[in-house]
Amino acid sequence: MDFELTADQRGIQGLTRELAEAEIVPNATSWDRSHRFPDELYPKLAELGLMGACIPEEYGGAGADFLSYILVLEELSRADAGVGVTVAVHTSATTLPILTFGTDEQKSRFVPPLARGEQLGAFALTESGSGSDAGSLRTVAEQEGEEWVITGSKQWITNGSRAGTFVLFARTDPATAGARGISCFVLSAEHVRVTREEEKLGLNSSTTSDLAIEGARAGRDRLLHEEGRGFRIAMATLDGGRIGIAAQALGIAQAAYDVARRYAHEREQFGRRIGDFQAIQWKLADMATEIDAARLLTYRAAWLKQEGRPHTAEGAKAKLYASEMARRQTAEAIQILGGYGYTKEFPVERFYRDAKITEIYEGTSEIQRLVIARSILGRQAREEPVVQT
Ligand code: CAA
Repeated sequence: MDFELTADQRGIQGLTRELAEAEIVPNATSWDRSHRFPDELYPKLAELGLMGACIPEEYGGAGADFLSYILVLEELSRADAGVGVTVAVHTSATTLPILTFGTDEQKSRFVPPLARGEQLGAFALTESGSGSDAGSLRTVAEQEGEEWVITGSKQWITNGSRAGTFVLFARTDPATAGARGISCFVLSAEHVRVTREEEKLGLNSSTTSDLAIEGARAGRDRLLHEEGRGFRIAMATLDGGRIGIAAQALGIAQAAYDVARRYAHEREQFGRRIGDFQAIQWKLADMATEIDAARLLTYRAAWLKQEGRPHTAEGAKAKLYASEMARRQTAEAIQILGGYGYTKEFPVERFYRDAKITEIYEGTSEIQRLVIARSILGRQAREEPVVQT
């Protein structure tokens, strides 16, 4: 076992931290309050290769490994979790599935503009009636000659209003209910119409949109992988994506801890620094321990993925633990700051709002537990219990 990051991994981590401290940290509060998507930031990330950190150089990326990409997400999210999710969905939920499942033609056509950051990517799976039960989606793709005609709607699509490329799931076999009749398509902005922008509790510097797909025509060259295999693409994509959300949660918790620790050194009550009181020491000790545990789970899952080893359960464990830890520990950071923590004078209330979503998207904590339980119990955990009457 080797717990040291490589020189390359430390390099990309340091580069991202520098950029985040110069370009994101000074603006994050104002983006949050004005609900502003920082369009001007992404070309700067692209210049450093951070819009395609783990994409091979031949496809326009930086050619780093998956753990390096996870370090990038952690650092971006430490500065602003809205930026973190924008890059996460762009990379692990859009660029990577095209790279993994695409033909040579699809890879060379769709991946370089994404990896170079010339376009943003979006992942369109969720619909109003299909969230956790992703296999029940109702958007349809009907074959007409050599084309597919796609009709339906999608909900809560991160980057939906900014993306140039969409990985979109639709039912190509209406006779087959559930996961088996679903296929995956690579669409462009002209195939979709943004119908609504979501107002959220947090992540205000990211965009979340509803989409209408109104008879969009897609040639066979836009079908990703085989017809009817789309759900497997979605699941395999989420296996990796969840490691990214774990890194996002980790970054948010780290940011909250940094503020709380500094405050404990400075704030005085009863004639002493509050960090001199055991009540505060124990909170900081628990925060540091849980952040460490989440980091180890997250880096292990990332390492397994980059080694090409199974990582479904390990990614789910990392996301489950890191997201619940982030919610718990951002609340503790507010507690350490007391009344100040509840105000907009400090960023911990933003961290608390931003942390909550990590327990929900890319699979709720309940779905992560289901995925983990299936890895323990196999098929048994998939069946509904038979109720005897
Ligand atoms: N990798 C590859 N294939 C997989 C897989 C995996 N990890 N997990 C399942 N599959 C395959 C199965 O083998 C099966 O294939 P066959 O039909 O060929 O046998 C098929 O997929 C169906 O599998 P299940 O029977 O397990 O499917 P299910 O209906 O029971 O659903 C689920 C499983 C885990 C609940 C799944 O629906 C799920 O993950 N739900 C959560 C959805 C989710 O995470 N949404 C996130 C939206 S995107 C987002 O949030 C992005 C953002 O903005 C940040």
